Amino acid sequence: MTSALFMPFELRGVALANRIVVSPMCQYMSDDGSANDWHLMHLGQFAMGAAGLVITEATHVSPAGRISHRCLGLYSDENEATLKRVIDFCRRFGVAKLGIQLAHSGRKGSVHPPALGGKPLASDENPWTTLGPSPLPFGPGWPAPAALTRAGLSEIKEQFVQAARRAARIGFDLGELHAGHGYLLHEFLSPLANQRDDEYGGATRNRIRFPLEVFEAVRGVWPVDRPLGVRVSATDWVEGGWMPEETVILARELKALGCDFMDVTSGQLDPRQQIPFAPGYNVPFAEKVKKESGLTVMAVGMISRARQAEEIVAAGRADLVALARGIMDDPRWAWHAARDLGAEAAYAPNYVRCSPAQWKPSPA
Ligand SMILES: Cc1cc2nc3c(=O)[nH]c(=O)nc-3n(C[C@H](O)[C@H](O)[C@H](O)COP(=O)(O)O)c2cc1C
Repeated sequence: MTSALFMPFELRGVALANRIVVSPMCQYMSDDGSANDWHLMHLGQFAMGAAGLVITEATHVSPAGRISHRCLGLYSDENEATLKRVIDFCRRFGVAKLGIQLAHSGRKGSVHPPALGGKPLASDENPWTTLGPSPLPFGPGWPAPAALTRAGLSEIKEQFVQAARRAARIGFDLGELHAGHGYLLHEFLSPLANQRDDEYGGATRNRIRFPLEVFEAVRGVWPVDRPLGVRVSATDWVEGGWMPEETVILARELKALGCDFMDVTSGQLDPRQQIPFAPGYNVPFAEKVKKESGLTVMAVGMISRARQAEEIVAAGRADLVALARGIMDDPRWAWHAARDLGAEAAYAPNYVRCSPAQWKPSPA
């Protein structure tokens, strides 16, 4: 049997061995934005062959763009050097291609990591003033962000550009801008967070303007032979919020600017959201974006079984599938899925002997 999930896939000049992606996962383990030994283990285990592509956790473009004090960043030489050490390590021992997610937390920053409650930092915990399109808090009990001025918008665009230059120097194969989960770029998209009365607010074409400007600026400095995509929440799951139809409009505009893929997720912009969680619950949105825009799509959200992932790709509903919790639970996910599907996965050379196909009766 030929597995669709294990068919190689090419994005610009980058050849992926299969359609499986390790989804970005914040670790809240960094020191002033810098990666450390934790990241060697966290990303190293996945680079050994968990998937064809491993994407880093949200890597923030400025200190104020972080979610918590412990988030990863790429705004200093120290951040760049420490992340390069991790990526060189993954490259030396692993087989997966390596991507980076660049992000700005917007009004959802200045909080504790989720394991410590995820609530806004108190006045004696070194909080910072968050930024957003409009002075509207994420929810009750959250501080209102400062509304970004024109100068502020230019500064943030420049921070994305500088972080992208650093990521390119580090040698990442692929880049992804985070415009989902209620963080800054998503806040511009959604009428629930963006109530500006300038050309960045109001109609859909205005709300998509800043994310498009950021994408265009980053694409301008990102190497031409490396893919760049965007993670987008296809809906806010709240009445009056950002809609799947608008996601398609955004996808078409991004495609025209040289975007290589959309990573389609949903929600996390507004605590009133009602998400009908179920296996593959975001797949219909990925499928819609793919069909109506022609853009390559990655589906994510409660995809955990090999046959489920195989069916999504084989039916042409998504080009790639990203896994977070399921692949954290089983960092050999691709090896095991290949076994279930009668396909072959790439192994790190030192581990080739653990593939049951290679087992010999002798332990020698
Ligand atoms: C520990 C953890 C950290 C996460 N951090 C990020 C992140 O940094 N950026 C992001 O876009 N999504 C993040 N997510 C969301 C995942 O990438 C993914 O979209 C979500 O968990 C649904 O996929 P799953 O059902 O396979 O876990 C995180 C999820 C988890 C479990």
